[in-house]
Amino acid sequence: MSTHPAVVTASVRGALQVIKVPTVAPCTGEVLVRVEWTASTPLDLHQNDGGLLVQHPQVLGGDIAGTVVEVGLGVERLEVGDKVFGFTWREQKEKAHQTLATVPEYLLGIIPPHIPMRAAATLPDNFVTVFHALTTDLHLPLPWPRPATAPKHANSPILLWGGASSVGQYALQILAYYGYRHLLTTASPRHHELLRSLGANAVFDYRAPDVVARILDAAAAGDGGGDGGGGGGEAGVRMPGEGSTVAVLLPVIVRDATEGQAPEYSMDAGGAVAWKAGVEVRGVRTHFYLDNEFFKQKLQSEIMPTLLGQGIVKPNRFRVVEGSTLRERAQGAMDRLRRREASGERFVWRVSE
Ligand SMILES: NC(=O)c1ccc[n+]([C@@H]2O[C@H](COP(=O)([O-])OP(=O)(O)OC[C@H]3O[C@@H](n4cnc5c(N)ncnc54)[C@H](OP(=O)(O)O)[C@@H]3O)[C@@H](O)[C@H]2O)c1
Repeated sequence: MSTHPAVVTASVRGALQVIKVPTVAPCTGEVLVRVEWTASTPLDLHQNDGGLLVQHPQVLGGDIAGTVVEVGLGVERLEVGDKVFGFTWREQKEKAHQTLATVPEYLLGIIPPHIPMRAAATLPDNFVTVFHALTTDLHLPLPWPRPATAPKHANSPILLWGGASSVGQYALQILAYYGYRHLLTTASPRHHELLRSLGANAVFDYRAPDVVARILDAAAAGDGGGDGGGGGGEAGVRMPGEGSTVAVLLPVIVRDATEGQAPEYSMDAGGAVAWKAGVEVRGVRTHFYLDNEFFKQKLQSEIMPTLLGQGIVKPNRFRVVEGSTLRERAQGAMDRLRRREASGERFVWRVSE
């Protein structure tokens, strides 16, 4: 049996390890990918430091960018040598933080030729998260191909709390592309210009003491405003009024992981805070996006590469985490996430040499 190296979380809050895992030959409809680049995401930290949805030792990673090296029977779209990217998360053989991954064809798109592989690695999990959350949880249809007419809620205020996050940046770009024009978001001031360029109508500093009042004013006025300074981060909870729908990206982080402290999470978006009466609260779980048969077939294989290739969606800014070994690079990215160094950028790193 052939094997290859994989990065695993071996214990809660322990150091990452590299172990040998079996290389699984592709079955019908699957391809074998040499994983060249990946990104470390908050879920990797939640899994390593919080043990969230983990059975040790567990291979980490959900963002693959690499090259197809073998195809199984019945594979119709992909060929050996194709440069591909995809969100892959369900079982060991398809996880991203290993040098070879066995993945069904429908989870992969071809990377547009002008996009560097490391930049493509910033997309998949959160590109998929945005389509899933907007359609399933916020009930905003995103038909494909995009219709020529404006959507029903084109002028309704939509607030994205945390616009500089990877999810936030992709959400702004995708909503703007679909014709949603009243996009309000929050971020540290250094990201405001970027977020306006991605489609935000107004940007607010989430630490500002008057952030709630300013956002409510802008939402009511139907125009921009934005920018401010100060402190106070849980303000977003006080804002949605009766009739609003809120999609919370699970897990709710009750307490962040730090170097000296274990994190605390909740999977109960509705109960984690005191929402106002009449607010519909949904906990987003992108891991169920394949329940939508159309998205299963089209989202990663066609929609994601098309929007990236046409420049409608730009990759996140990223920082390459260097290291002389696979373990060093993976650990370096994990440590940066724990220190909360991610601000408007993704940590990407090389997997296979
Ligand atoms: N359930 C799901 O299906 C699902 C899917 C994907 C992601 N998620 C979750 O969604 C969250 C975001 O993921 P991501 O990959 O987009 O994260 P990310 O890119 O690492 O987010 C980093 C950004 O978060 C912003 N931020 C931190 N605290 C904030 C606060 N109190 N208010 C507003 N912004 C704040 C920072 O903004 P500034 O730089 O402007 O300060 C920073 O740029 C994570 O918790 C992740 O686990 C869930």
